[in-house]
Amino acid sequence: MTRKAAAFGCHNIHDLREAARRFLPRGLFEFIDRGAEDELCLERDVAAFRRVRLLPRVLRDVSRADPAGELLGGPAAFPLAVAPTGGAGMVRHHGDLLLARAAAAAGVPFAISSASNMEVEQICRAGGRLWFQLYLWEDRSLSMAVVERARAAGCEALVVTADIPVSPNREYNRRNGFASPFRLGFGNAADILSHPRWFTAVMLRYLREGGMPAQANLPRPLAHAVTREAAPRARFRGDSLTWDEVARMRDGWPGRFVLKGLLRPDDAERAVALGVDGIVVSNHGGRSLDCAAATLEALPDVVAAVSGRAEVLVDSGVRRGSDIAKALALGARGVLAGRAPLYGLAAGGQAGVEYALDLLKEEFVRTMGLCGARDLSELDAGLLWRSPAEI
Ligand code: FNR
Repeated sequence: MTRKAAAFGCHNIHDLREAARRFLPRGLFEFIDRGAEDELCLERDVAAFRRVRLLPRVLRDVSRADPAGELLGGPAAFPLAVAPTGGAGMVRHHGDLLLARAAAAAGVPFAISSASNMEVEQICRAGGRLWFQLYLWEDRSLSMAVVERARAAGCEALVVTADIPVSPNREYNRRNGFASPFRLGFGNAADILSHPRWFTAVMLRYLREGGMPAQANLPRPLAHAVTREAAPRARFRGDSLTWDEVARMRDGWPGRFVLKGLLRPDDAERAVALGVDGIVVSNHGGRSLDCAAATLEALPDVVAAVSGRAEVLVDSGVRRGSDIAKALALGARGVLAGRAPLYGLAAGGQAGVEYALDLLKEEFVRTMGLCGARDLSELDAGLLWRSPAEI
């Protein structure tokens, strides 16, 4: 760790974030880093984690504290999965593949975003435990074709994201003239020229290949079309998605099925009733509804409603290994992390992601030791200074 820290000059996720800020053009950094509207939700998410206080148990032999466990029926070296993030391929050339390889090396699952600019088959070559996250295209048959490809390529779980039914309001993207895929133009020329390392390592490589690709998981002829100009058929359309459609998807998917982006106990009940294996309590990292509750505020009621019938994961705001311990003490099975691995990806490619995951794991194991927890089951509600309702 020390050698790596020296290589990156970073000692925690906050340092990696600053390294990402230096590497990426501003428009791109803000796209991965910021929230929506006034960024109240993002602030609340992070603040909620910071507010939780633990009462450590002492004088228990923690010399062999074991952070390993199971997530969605498979092993995880510690209770974290890398969240699906559509922008990875702009941060680094073939960014999704680098994230997948790093997750495999760290022994944690990786959720492939359906908005990725690489084909799911290419990403699956990384190996490791892979989940596939789905946004729905207007033409639902395209979505189902991609889901089938993900299954054939080895994705063990389908993660349907429910919290972006309409486009969220991210004013900074408009102000920065940001577009996905990233385009060079007069508006961002100065921004790009002042980040030559990113231009050489990322944009130049895409330009040599004919330009930065857009969504790569549409059927090939159409994927080609959207690379050149946005084809209306290829637009994501989540606004007409309903519980009935999710129930049909659940029935048609043979593996584990996860609904991501729930905050309400009644929605969690409904998800359990239609047979989900997991729920991700998420507000999309504060990037969707800005007046949404923090995920840690919502978590205890969802855990109570689910009452062990499905796994409850939580994301939005994980920046320290201790945040994972807090999530477990509040009843989550594990966490997803989106920005933390992306900061690592920007700072150092695959090695940077591995470093980000190492940091989170090391901090998590340290927190376990300091709390007197020998395994994950000992990160329980008894560690909380106040009851979940009071956080
Ligand atoms: C996301 N997120 C996301 N979620 C999803 O289901 N599909 C996607 O394609 C994306 N894309 C995406 C891009 C970027 C740049 C970010 C930061 C996030 C949300 C993501 O899966 C996760 O819910 C949050 O990132 C969790 O919050 P933290 O860990 O970033 O605070």
